[in-house]
Amino acid sequence: MRKFMAMQILSVVLAGLSFVAAAQVPEAKPAPSAADVQRMQWFKDAKLGIFIHWGIYAVDGIDESWSFFNGKIGYPDYMKQLHGFTAAHYDPQAWADLIKRSGARYAVLTSRHHDGVALWNSAHGINVVKDTPAGRDLIGPFVRALRKDDLKVGLYYSLADWSSPDYDVFTRKEKRYTNDPVRWQRFVSYYQGQLRELSQRYRPDLFWFDGDWEHNAKEWQANKTRDMLRSDNPQVILNARLPENGDYATPEQGPPIARPSDRYWELCLTTNDSWGYQQRDRNFKTPTQVIGLFVDTIGMGGNLLLDIGARADGTFPQEQVDILDALGQWIHRYPQAVYGTDAGVPKDYYNGPSTLSADQRTLYLFVNGKPNGPVLVKGLINKVVDARLLGGNTSLKTQLIGNSVNIPGLLYIDTAGQALDQHMSVIALQLDSPLKLYKKPLDAAAGS
Ligand code: GLC
Repeated sequence: MRKFMAMQILSVVLAGLSFVAAAQVPEAKPAPSAADVQRMQWFKDAKLGIFIHWGIYAVDGIDESWSFFNGKIGYPDYMKQLHGFTAAHYDPQAWADLIKRSGARYAVLTSRHHDGVALWNSAHGINVVKDTPAGRDLIGPFVRALRKDDLKVGLYYSLADWSSPDYDVFTRKEKRYTNDPVRWQRFVSYYQGQLRELSQRYRPDLFWFDGDWEHNAKEWQANKTRDMLRSDNPQVILNARLPENGDYATPEQGPPIARPSDRYWELCLTTNDSWGYQQRDRNFKTPTQVIGLFVDTIGMGGNLLLDIGARADGTFPQEQVDILDALGQWIHRYPQAVYGTDAGVPKDYYNGPSTLSADQRTLYLFVNGKPNGPVLVKGLINKVVDARLLGGNTSLKTQLIGNSVNIPGLLYIDTAGQALDQHMSVIALQLDSPLKLYKKPLDAAAGS
């Protein structure tokens, strides 16, 4: 009897424990539908997009929108930049060609930032067609040039518009109103009207929302916005800054250290420290650093959205052009290790970034610099049929040690004497079957 009671108590305690354990496990995200997987396919395969910030903030070379919001410059002075925004040397085909050369498969242009200045001839609000010397639509020609180069079209759009008389927030210190549902509804109708124009005029493949943090999904009427855009284009992709309605996560300015739990994600990253053109910002990343960030990102299953800032006349600083060209030359040397791949193996197996071919039979190892000895891979259950440096035509010497019936050993790959890539070399490991990783902890292995 006692024993029975004790067992009952024990099972209650255990049930409690398993409940606690279950509660601590992060909730698994529901698997996307087959239709959504198909809709997201081009995005997943693309790996690289180019982000372009272009707006009146390039005239003085100051922070996009934030400079007046944070009081670094008065609002009237900020808006004076309208007079200097000429787009005089804007060559959308040259933009598209640069994007194509970079190896990107899509681009995202700021159609309207938080300052409310639209790059197209909107029926609502401030725009560059009627309010600046540029005097023409800047989005249409960009969209056409991208399509000509077979690139997907993304449009950035800030939900917040700090210039709009119907928007509640004006600057960090000033609000226009609180709690005025009629005025707020006017704003929502305004922003949704602008989105409808963008959606129907340019038919973008992707909307890149921003500026959502001042209101919640309900206030933005985000479901309605999504339904409207999907009814125009059922295939359209939306980032997750349209709260509760997005297709993919958007970490910003730093590669995640561990692989994000999101199935789809995209790291947006500046080439120097600014999103828009700022002549005083000389802190450019080197091509090797950008390539390193790129492979780190795709190795964890994400895309990189690399940002450049156009000058007010529509040209780009040479440093940014050079970074895109170097990245493109590198990608075009190793396209099979980039496009259409999946995330590679965790760092426990290879201490660097890696990707996996879609058929899971080739593992691509990215090797930074000149390795100080052989490259090491652990825990591969598969047999390695061939190991070679991409770009070279000889097989690399390998050595397998500590291999037993149940436990795959350590695979050493020798790159000594090989011509390595000055930025990042790629080793392709050809496997005899789809990748299988050994996962048992040591104690379990010892007993098996
Ligand atoms: C931030 C900033 C914005 C920038 C964006 C790009 O949300 O507010 O200025 O355009 O990041 O991701």
